[in-house]
Amino acid sequence: MPCLLDVHADEARSLARMADDIQRGLTGSPRMLPPKYFYDEAGSELFERITQLPEYYLTRAEESILRDVADDVMGGLRPRDIVELGPGSCRKVRWLFDALEDAENVRYVAVDVGRDSLVQAVTALADEYPWLHVHAVVGDFERHLACLPLAVGRRLALFLGSTIGNFDPIPRRALLAQIRRLLGADGRLLLGVDLVKDRDELNAAYDDPAGVTAEFNRNILRVVNRTVDADFAPEKWRHHAFYNVAASRIEMHLLATEPQRVILRKLGVKLDFDTGDGIWTENSYKFTRESVEAMLAEAGLALEQWYTDAERRFGLVLARPVESA
Ligand code: SAH
Ligand code: TRP
Repeated sequence: MPCLLDVHADEARSLARMADDIQRGLTGSPRMLPPKYFYDEAGSELFERITQLPEYYLTRAEESILRDVADDVMGGLRPRDIVELGPGSCRKVRWLFDALEDAENVRYVAVDVGRDSLVQAVTALADEYPWLHVHAVVGDFERHLACLPLAVGRRLALFLGSTIGNFDPIPRRALLAQIRRLLGADGRLLLGVDLVKDRDELNAAYDDPAGVTAEFNRNILRVVNRTVDADFAPEKWRHHAFYNVAASRIEMHLLATEPQRVILRKLGVKLDFDTGDGIWTENSYKFTRESVEAMLAEAGLALEQWYTDAERRFGLVLARPVESA
């Protein structure tokens, strides 16, 4: 079956928005960059390598849960419309498609900012599942959810990989409330969340000895260089990731290894960094069942099923909208 492709925000507009975000992030205090810009082509490839690292248990743990519960979840829900936010390689959703018995007239809508990797991923998926109606949407799921095609039947939204943990509490609540709106009255959300655990295990997952995560982190500087004609030298930046226990989150930063001046030509901005000065590139919040329930409740959602892997490292949550009063 042919794939449909919607592209939201043309190239020029999304470049202008990125330039704005970069300007705001790097001239504010603390200096930061929005993590959605990690995922250019090189970034998406590096992320795929991260998912295969021995220290990065998240992907394997979530897939082991999906393998175990796919029949139950899909058999119980029989969704007609599956919408996935940030599918990346579309690897995980295969567990769910494989569990669909009466697989006719099922539509899969995949929303991701990474155009090339999305097209590549959905093309492979459409070849593998010829019965599937695939609709790829290139867009920002914080901005373009209202433009998605209307549900064609019961809708299941997927938000896997603990990508929800990359959002701070306030934007996270807004995003979940938007996802709730996508679901309609009988829809469901399947949400992957990484769980609070021993700090050494968490630190190792975000600072592997092979340096792949460090390369992924530094890649955002290449994205900035390209977008605003800047001259960051990635080799002069050190990856620094640590678990902040009080905030239940991994923080990722880039730290300058020597004093340097960086010019962002397109923005007419000069930045001076001393050794040790940082750019905050990402948070990855870690959850408990209780914190997940509280987060869902704030967005008008309620936990229906809670699944974990055998080692209780990762949680997969089935949530339903709460009827509004
Ligand atoms: N779900 C996959 C990939 C996770 S990586 C997994 O679990 O392995 C996060 C994915 O979300 C990437 O593919 C990235 O391009 C996408 N993404 C991140 N921020 C986004 C945003 N604001 N809008 C759309 N896609 C986004
Ligand atoms: N959602 C993933 C996570 O928080 C994204 C991610 C994994 C990531 N490894 C990373 C982001 C390393 C930046 C750097 O685990």
